[in-house]
Amino acid sequence: MLEQENNRLTISRSHTLGTDLSVGALAYGCWRLAGTGVDEAAVKIGTALDAGMTLIDTADIYGGSGPDGFGEAEALLGDVLAANPTLRGRMVLATKGGIVRGLPYNSTKDYLIRACEASLKRLKTDVIDLYQIHRPDLLTGHDEVADALLALQYQGKIREIGVSNHTPDQSRALETHLGFPVASQQPEFSALEISPLFDGVLDHAMATGARILAWSPLAGGGLLSDAAEATGKAKAVITVLDRLANAYGTDRTAVALAFLLAHPSGVIPIIGTQTPARITAATAAFDVPLTRRDWYDILEASRGARMP
Ligand SMILES: NC(=O)c1ccc[n+]([C@@H]2O[C@H](COP(=O)([O-])OP(=O)(O)OC[C@H]3O[C@@H](n4cnc5c(N)ncnc54)[C@H](OP(=O)(O)O)[C@@H]3O)[C@@H](O)[C@H]2O)c1
Repeated sequence: MLEQENNRLTISRSHTLGTDLSVGALAYGCWRLAGTGVDEAAVKIGTALDAGMTLIDTADIYGGSGPDGFGEAEALLGDVLAANPTLRGRMVLATKGGIVRGLPYNSTKDYLIRACEASLKRLKTDVIDLYQIHRPDLLTGHDEVADALLALQYQGKIREIGVSNHTPDQSRALETHLGFPVASQQPEFSALEISPLFDGVLDHAMATGARILAWSPLAGGGLLSDAAEATGKAKAVITVLDRLANAYGTDRTAVALAFLLAHPSGVIPIIGTQTPARITAATAAFDVPLTRRDWYDILEASRGARMP
C-alpha cells in the first residue's frame, strides 16, 4: 500500500509560463472553433475559463479550409472578446503565425510582423500574451526569425515567444539568437503520439523551463473510438486506458489527459472539444490517481513493447 502511495504521480493544476504569466494546467484550443455564431463561441470560451483553462490557444491559419478560412477562428474569438469585455482579462491569449496555405511556411521578418499585426486586429486586442511560430520555415534563418520576434516584443505587441512543431535543435538555434529560452514549445503529444518523450522535445523544455503545450491530446478524437472497433496500437492503448478508467471510477478521456499531466515537465494538454459539457468534464483528469506502473503500462501499450 505504501509502495502504491509512493508511486502515485503528481499532477499540478497550474504553471508559470515565461517570465511571470500564470496558467491553468489544461488549456483550451480554438482550432475547431470557427463556423458558429458569437454567442455559441462565447459559451465555449466562458466554459473553458470557468474550468480553469486560462490559456486560450488559436492560430491565424485556423478556420474553414477554403481560401477565406484564414483568420476565421481568430476573428470569431475577437468578436467574442468584443462582445464580452471582461473575458480578455481572464485569459492568457496565445496565437501563432508562419503558415501560409499553399506556400506552406513564411517566417521572414517582414511577413511575421505583418501576420502578427493582422492577428492583433482580428483578435481585437492590444497585445498577444504568447506568440508562437506555428511550424519552422526552413528557408528563413533563425537570426531573422528572432529579429522579427524581438521587434514585436520591443514594440509591446507580444509578451512571450513560443514555438510549435520545432525540433530541439531548431528551438536551440532560435534561442541562441533571441538570447533567452522560448516560453513554450507545442508538439503533438498524446498516449497515441509519444514521440516528444523520446525525440528530446520534453528534455529540452525541462532544461530551459519552457512549458509544453500538447496539441491533439486525445489524438484528435482517435483515442475515443469504440474499443471493439479499434485496431493495432490504438486498440492496445484504449484497452489500458479503459482498464485504468474502470479501476479509478473515471473515464478514458480523464486517464488519457492524466498521462500527459503527470509528466515531470509540466505538460499542458490543449483541450479541443467543441462540446461545453466535455470541456468541463476534462478537469476530471486532475483527480486520476495514476501510478508509476499505470503510466508505464500506457507508454508500453503505445510503444508496442515493454521498456527495456
Ligand atoms: N500546433 C499545431 O500544429 C496544432 C495542430 C493541431 C491542433 N493544435 C491545437 O490543439 C488543440 C486541440 O486539438 P484537437 O482538437 O485535435 O484535440 P483533441 O482533444 O485531441 O481532439 C478533440 C476532438 O475529439 C473529439 N471528442 C470526442 N469525444 C470527446 C470527449 N469525450 N472529450 C473530448 N473530445 C472529444 C472532439 O469532438 P467534439 O468537438 O464533438 O466534442 C474533437 O473533434 C487545437 O484546438 C489547437 O489549439 C495545434
